[in-house]
Amino acid sequence: MSQNKSPRHLRPATRLVHGGTLRSQFGEMSEAMYLTQGYAYDSMETAERRFKGDEPGFMYSRFSNPTVAMFEQRMALLEGAESARATATGMAAVTAAIVGQLKAGDHIVAAKALFGSCRYVVEDLMPRFGVACTLVDGTDLAQWRAAVRPNTKTFFLESPTNPQLEIIDIAAVAKIAHDAGATLVVDNVFATPILQSPLQLGADCVVYSATKHVDGQGRVLGGCILASEAFIQAHIHNFLRQTGPAISPFNAWVMLKSLETLPLRVNQQMRNAERVADFLAEQSAINYVLYPSRKDHPQHELAMRQMSGGGTVVVIDVKGGKQAAFRMANAFSIIKISNNLGDAKSIVTHPATTTHQRLPQADREAMGIGEGMLRLSIGLEDIEDILEDFQAGIAAI
Ligand SMILES: Cc1ncc(COP(=O)(O)O)c(C=O)c1O
Repeated sequence: MSQNKSPRHLRPATRLVHGGTLRSQFGEMSEAMYLTQGYAYDSMETAERRFKGDEPGFMYSRFSNPTVAMFEQRMALLEGAESARATATGMAAVTAAIVGQLKAGDHIVAAKALFGSCRYVVEDLMPRFGVACTLVDGTDLAQWRAAVRPNTKTFFLESPTNPQLEIIDIAAVAKIAHDAGATLVVDNVFATPILQSPLQLGADCVVYSATKHVDGQGRVLGGCILASEAFIQAHIHNFLRQTGPAISPFNAWVMLKSLETLPLRVNQQMRNAERVADFLAEQSAINYVLYPSRKDHPQHELAMRQMSGGGTVVVIDVKGGKQAAFRMANAFSIIKISNNLGDAKSIVTHPATTTHQRLPQADREAMGIGEGMLRLSIGLEDIEDILEDFQAGIAAI
């Protein structure tokens, strides 16, 4: 099996097509899908050396697999990370990045504005194992500073946040974390690796739900953790190997092939999202539009400092609350009612009754998730068809 020579000198689009390819003796063009649990050793001595770590090679697909290794290597090249580990889902990646670093007696600081399941991990799960948690308004740097305790080990945030599209200053929070001797983990799902590079902004670890833009066609679940080799070895490698949230080689293959077109898809979805945001901002039925690259986004400047574009998600607040928002979404024909994002198909989500319904209403209100809020993940359809759907939705209100 031969691996592509280090393609780090190649430009990003080229890396996403060729990076990490492991070619078998058959010289296949399309990367092979190795659906295998285990590997046969040519002798007992080989097995012994592999298990001792004296010889490189695959042993068991809970630990590693050639197709998964190709996906990990291509993700690392994309992110500019030394090392990557793929996981079964985005939540497996988030959980491993947090649990892998902490033990009873430690303390974690996280932004309040997190995806619901991420909040469960930091707010409910970790305290059950003796890890204290402080939630802060991620946009207020003074709150991050004030939350630090002598036993603070890690900070966790996502930016832009789901679903309010708040922007958190990653470089500034990384500095506060490092001054306190803690690490920073960033969930980069909304920005995508194409538009934002948290490691370059000072984060120690980046996590993805690859289920979103990386697959980008709504097929499989997956996740990825990216960091320095030292971070992966200290906190992630053994945790994943022993606890087993491994990605299926089939899912890794789908993700690997999807990476080839990721920049094309994200950039086109973003161009469509820009048009949608501008169109909806003109409509009197809409209270407000949130989109990071629009000048009326409250943190436009910061967004443009750390992201190279506004992303693929637009958030609106419909006048008339839940009833009006439901009427609008029910009138769509192309835009589907679902709760994924980053898909080639445009998707509308009502966060208050779906992704964030677990939170008490007071918490939702504090986070700015109103009853009229709709999260719009803009896809790859023709923009004129998308805009016609929005026109129909507005007429139905
Ligand atoms: C910001 C964010 N982080 C993490 C996740 C979890 O990803 P997954 O569904 O792949 O476990 C999601 C979506 O589900 C998300 O939107």
